[in-house]
Amino acid sequence: MTGTPTVYVTRTIPEIGLDRLRERYEVAVWDGKLPPTKEHIVSMLAELDAAGLVCLLSDEIDAEVLDASPDLSVVSTFSVGYDHVHLAAAAERGIAVGHTPGVLAETTADLAWALLLTCARRTVEGHAHVAADEWETWGPRLLTGPDVHDATLGIVGLGEIGTATAKRAAGFEMDVRYSGRSPKPEREAELAEFGLDATYVDRDELLAESDFVSLHVPLVEETEGLIGSAELQRMSEDAILINTSRGEVVDTDALDTALAAGQIGRAGLDVTDPEPLPADHPLFRHAPERLVVTPHIGSASTGTRNRMAEMVAACTEAGIEGEPLPHSAIRDAGME
Ligand code: DGY
Repeated sequence: MTGTPTVYVTRTIPEIGLDRLRERYEVAVWDGKLPPTKEHIVSMLAELDAAGLVCLLSDEIDAEVLDASPDLSVVSTFSVGYDHVHLAAAAERGIAVGHTPGVLAETTADLAWALLLTCARRTVEGHAHVAADEWETWGPRLLTGPDVHDATLGIVGLGEIGTATAKRAAGFEMDVRYSGRSPKPEREAELAEFGLDATYVDRDELLAESDFVSLHVPLVEETEGLIGSAELQRMSEDAILINTSRGEVVDTDALDTALAAGQIGRAGLDVTDPEPLPADHPLFRHAPERLVVTPHIGSASTGTRNRMAEMVAACTEAGIEGEPLPHSAIRDAGME
């Protein structure tokens, strides 16, 4: 590589990140509204002889992409999730992979709660009711739903985002259960500081006993389809399922069947499979009475998106300079 290294960015991330990259590198940005195709990414990396790639969760970064530029030393994804990056292929090639943990847990937990409260208290239906000029009088049975306070919240996956979501249950005086591969005493201690006594239970127990089930697992082989028809059948008929993790963690057909059969009460989804979810998808027939969907906006606060942009820039710099990344996906996935 001669001259100033080049970085290719697959979407217009917040300016603060682009500015930081531009201070040190030549930066080319795909400014389309939709993601570039993989072929386009490959051809841009090759043409630019890129040293760095900043990508999004909608870009599949596989061996073909990683081989496109001989100078590529780092891929930084503008996301905490890295299921779209073939980490083993990157590690084999000595290409560092950066991601954005830490900064988006609280913001994503806020969104999980927005969905939880929306599903319980039927605010989307309420708004539609008023907007359609159907609000004729105060109604004793109008849009009733379950209480949130004093209910039981089940967290599947007590990582950073699961813990941030659980923490918020303190204000609602809820019982908190969690499931996962093993108990997490350090997370329990964190929650105890908020007066919460989070109990580790097995997943079946959690599903059977929770009024609200919120999913916070990464997408890996063993979590794909984690919530399928058997799991949905274990939930109570009033229970509300919240997913802000990855769409593929829930079996969409099974959820469609469960909602149609009244096996669970409602679902609030920020992530779907497929994603985007077309408005004519069969699942959508349950909206808004039994289903509320948002377009994968868990981390979409202005402050958090700015911090994510700075983090991908910092990871890209470190990778190009040959320094350890501040946030390495390869390390965080236990592959180092
Ligand atoms: C992530 O970062 O993985 C979220 O899904 C989007 O911010």
